[in-house]
Amino acid sequence: MIVPVILSGGSGTRLWPLSRDAYPKQFLPLADARTMLQATASRVRGLAAVTPPLVVCNEEHRFMVAEQLREIGVQPTAVILEPVGRNTAPAVAVAALHVLAGGDDPLLLVLPADHVIADVAGFRAAVERAAAAAAAGFLITFGIVPTAAETGYGYIKAGAAAGEGVSRVERFVEKPDVATASAYVASGSYLWNSGMFLFRASRYLEELQRFNPAIVEACRAALASARADVDFLRLERAAFTACPSDSIDYAVMERTQTAAVTPLAVGWNDVGAWSALWDVGSRDEAGNVFCGDVYALDTRNTYVRADRLVATVGLDDAVIVETPDAVLVARRDRVQDVKKIVERLKAEG
Ligand code: GDD
Ligand code: MG
Repeated sequence: MIVPVILSGGSGTRLWPLSRDAYPKQFLPLADARTMLQATASRVRGLAAVTPPLVVCNEEHRFMVAEQLREIGVQPTAVILEPVGRNTAPAVAVAALHVLAGGDDPLLLVLPADHVIADVAGFRAAVERAAAAAAAGFLITFGIVPTAAETGYGYIKAGAAAGEGVSRVERFVEKPDVATASAYVASGSYLWNSGMFLFRASRYLEELQRFNPAIVEACRAALASARADVDFLRLERAAFTACPSDSIDYAVMERTQTAAVTPLAVGWNDVGAWSALWDVGSRDEAGNVFCGDVYALDTRNTYVRADRLVATVGLDDAVIVETPDAVLVARRDRVQDVKKIVERLKAEG
């Protein structure tokens, strides 16, 4: 049995002005007509022996999650509400503890709610390929062949075989500096960590207990006095707020001796910035991706998303995002820095 665990707690600040705290990117139809959460929930439907997803999200987003799943006919296994974000290690821990409390020890398929995957059949095949090794106790990561020295990713060095199409992780390095990342990419022997995982609920907790018992303890306490509220499970505020904040990558994947990796070549993109939507979008003959009404003259390799008519003249490699209360105009290779604008806007209140 596989229980998909959808992590839907991020804020996606680099996709400002569309993505906001109250309305982060996973709830937006960025890459196709469905929202990213809906695409994620739909993607797992065709897996063999899969339950409906369990979603872990901030309590503020509960109605959006419920409504968007209802729209696509998905009745979630559970929606666990975090009073505050404590990063991914606790989010996965509460999911694992909740599932184990039901008496089973299924495989958890941990999925960020905000990734694009072009080849859904290929994705399902990779999950099914890795299931036996996960059932045998490995913590499975899905590795992407790197195309740049990205410092925002985890890097995985594959070692000896651990099963059909699965290798042991020899090294896992989360967010290396740029020199290290460059060396890894140049070596040809590292993969990017996609941020999706497959493991037995009990195996994850065992490893987390070994490396960061305070997280397990706080999550256990937050779940023990959690409150069922209609279709939601509200973690107890004080206990969860007291939980140390850490990512699954730093807390577990960098340290465990029992990680394994299976390669994933399915058009994966974590939509970290507006340029990613140009990357995954369908480009016209001038290399443009336009969402909305755009009148373009001598415009190339540009992404525009707008409600009102936008006209561009003599423009290359740009990003324009128009919303009712803010407009972003940026060079396509600078969109990572949109985060800085958001920070400045927040600081200025
Ligand atoms: N429920 C919940 N609560 N979800 C969370 C929380 C939280 O506190 N924090 C993050 N998430 C969700 C985000 O919404 C996102 O979907 C996912 O967990 C991953 O979090 P990120 O904050 O985006 O992680 P990252 O991008 O720094 O790094 C991870 O992803 C990379 C690939 O995109 C790591 O796994 C890297 O190793 C990996 O390369
Ligand atoms: Mg991310």
